[in-house]
Amino acid sequence: MKKKILITSALPYANGPIHFGHIAGAYLPADVYARFERLKGRDVLYICGSDEYGVAITLSAELANRTPKEHVDIYHEMIKDFFEKLNFSFDHYSRTTTEIHKKLSQEFFLDLYKNGYIEAKTEKHLFSEKENKFLADRYVIGTCPKCEYEFARGDECPKCSRAFDAKELKNPRSKLTNSKLILKPSKHWYMRFDKFKEKLSSWIKDKDWKDSVLNFSKEYIKDLKERAITRDSTWGVPVPLEEAKGKVLYVWFDAPIGYISATMEWAEKIGDKEKYKDYWFDEKTKLVNFIGKDNIPFHGVFFPAMIMGQKKPYKIVDDLPANEFLMLEKRQFSKSEKWYIDLKSFFEKFTTDQIRFYLASIAPETHDSDFLWKDFQMHCNSELVGKFGNFIHRTLTFIQRFADQKIPKSYALDDVDQKFLDDIIKSITDIDIAYSNYKLRKATQIIMELSQIANVYFDHKKPWKMAKDESKKEELFTCLNLCLKCIKALSLMTSPIIPTSSQKIWKMIGNESGLSQGKWDSVKNLNLEEGKKLPPPEVIFQKIEDEKVIEEMDKLKEALDDQNMPKKAIQDLKNEISYKDFDKIDMRVGKIIEAEKIEKSEKLLKLQVDLGFEKRQIISGIAKSITPDELLNKKVIVVANIKKAKLMGFESDGMILAAGEDDDSLEIPFIQDMEIGSSVC
Ligand code: MF3
Ligand code: ZN
Repeated sequence: MKKKILITSALPYANGPIHFGHIAGAYLPADVYARFERLKGRDVLYICGSDEYGVAITLSAELANRTPKEHVDIYHEMIKDFFEKLNFSFDHYSRTTTEIHKKLSQEFFLDLYKNGYIEAKTEKHLFSEKENKFLADRYVIGTCPKCEYEFARGDECPKCSRAFDAKELKNPRSKLTNSKLILKPSKHWYMRFDKFKEKLSSWIKDKDWKDSVLNFSKEYIKDLKERAITRDSTWGVPVPLEEAKGKVLYVWFDAPIGYISATMEWAEKIGDKEKYKDYWFDEKTKLVNFIGKDNIPFHGVFFPAMIMGQKKPYKIVDDLPANEFLMLEKRQFSKSEKWYIDLKSFFEKFTTDQIRFYLASIAPETHDSDFLWKDFQMHCNSELVGKFGNFIHRTLTFIQRFADQKIPKSYALDDVDQKFLDDIIKSITDIDIAYSNYKLRKATQIIMELSQIANVYFDHKKPWKMAKDESKKEELFTCLNLCLKCIKALSLMTSPIIPTSSQKIWKMIGNESGLSQGKWDSVKNLNLEEGKKLPPPEVIFQKIEDEKVIEEMDKLKEALDDQNMPKKAIQDLKNEISYKDFDKIDMRVGKIIEAEKIEKSEKLLKLQVDLGFEKRQIISGIAKSITPDELLNKKVIVVANIKKAKLMGFESDGMILAAGEDDDSLEIPFIQDMEIGSSVC
């Protein structure tokens, strides 16, 4: 029986685009490993999908004015497309908003509940009477209990960085509507992770994971506590209990179950519904979860406990290769700060194999690493083109010119030939070990070392000289035959990392069928069909010109300048006015009681404003900077005695103060603690 290997990559949140930073940690290493094990003839199943529930998603969706479903649909497709561009070889890419997933997550919950590992508790939580719902931490703002900063977030103060529970905030308010929040009792369900301490400790004891991953997990297990696994929300898997209306499972409870539900979906897709059991229920399957270091507790502690506490014989993770993070030019990737790589322009200029090779060679395996544009260019030009591509090209053109484009026969080997052959074979053995241990960096080094050895061999043998001397023909053929063997080895060795290029090479050395499932051992012996005609050689890698990377680096420079310098020149000061002039303006605090967009206008909002002594309609050109929802119930400064005007057919009686000049980056000052109608002076 073939060995079964079940490989997963952390399910990415469908809450935004993903970038090369993510890819280098939890995704490319998994794809390379899956491709390697398939070549070795193992029964590989590689599973992934989008993680689509959770408060972060409802919040972003609300801010983007979409329903959560619309939001995840957009990003699910975008992420899937990105993986396709990068030539990922998932057997199935699913998502957590499926029926199968809901059913399975509920089954997990009920089973754990029945077995006494889930308990209910009623505690006070922040509730918005206005919105008639409990608010999760991320929806709450308030005054920091430590530094008194008024706009601290529900989990942390951005000013003094103190972390706390949202309930500790003074004057807690809703982030979306600014309404006051009260504490109201709510029932939630807690998973008794503390009951798994012993079981987990003895299970983890003999794992040979990376030190960082193992130590972190062990420390975590030491003081395991119960954790709430339900939330007040409508977006998520409903808690399957009568008394739990309006509650859903916490996203980290359902997400890892997604590995199993996605496998079930895969089984249905291939028309063999029970097939998932072959992997998940077989003790001998090797289960490998590829993740980023921030996900260690969930995969090394919580999910294993969840499996231990229910009754079905699901596999528990065997290996947990968690990686560190990849940065871009020494800073974290960030779309909002324009510190990122635009993928559309990337794939117009560069190829999938170039990026796969580079990311593999800088994989953040033992510490955070950096994507550097100059380094990317260097790897592509001096390694892929200069060493690897060059060796293949010179060998194949020599065979074309001096061996009638047929695989040359090998005659007796001298010491140098024998040494070269030994080096080739050793490289295959070494890279086998590197791949088996998820070491992508090491693998790229072995590939480049062998390319270098091959070039040195070629230079040493000087086949261009031998070609001029009829008596050296056998030596020449032997040399080219060995070089071809080396290309065969390189094609095999590079296949997990740069599959497209490696297939091309594979064809160029005379193979009609692909380099596929189970080929490792048969290719390893390096037999060649001597005398076989080869197709004409092609160039495999292109050089990257300076200007292409300079363009990209300039984009980053602009982003830096944007952050460091004032956005634009400060305007000249207007002419002086007298106090009397100023005093003519009557400004008041007014409260916005209704706000709506004016159809057919991008800029205008129609507002109803309570000035205390009367209500006014004001048409304001701020729609590009703020949504009606964000304005509702806010108190703003109104110029109350300005002459009435008509805008787009609507009467406007007053003006609202805003800072800024660009329509799309205005900021409206809010005066929250003043009485409506108060004068502003
Ligand atoms: N969505 C999480 C993240 O991007 C990972 C979820 S992994 C799973 O950090 F196990 F929960 F699926
Ligand atoms: Zn603070």
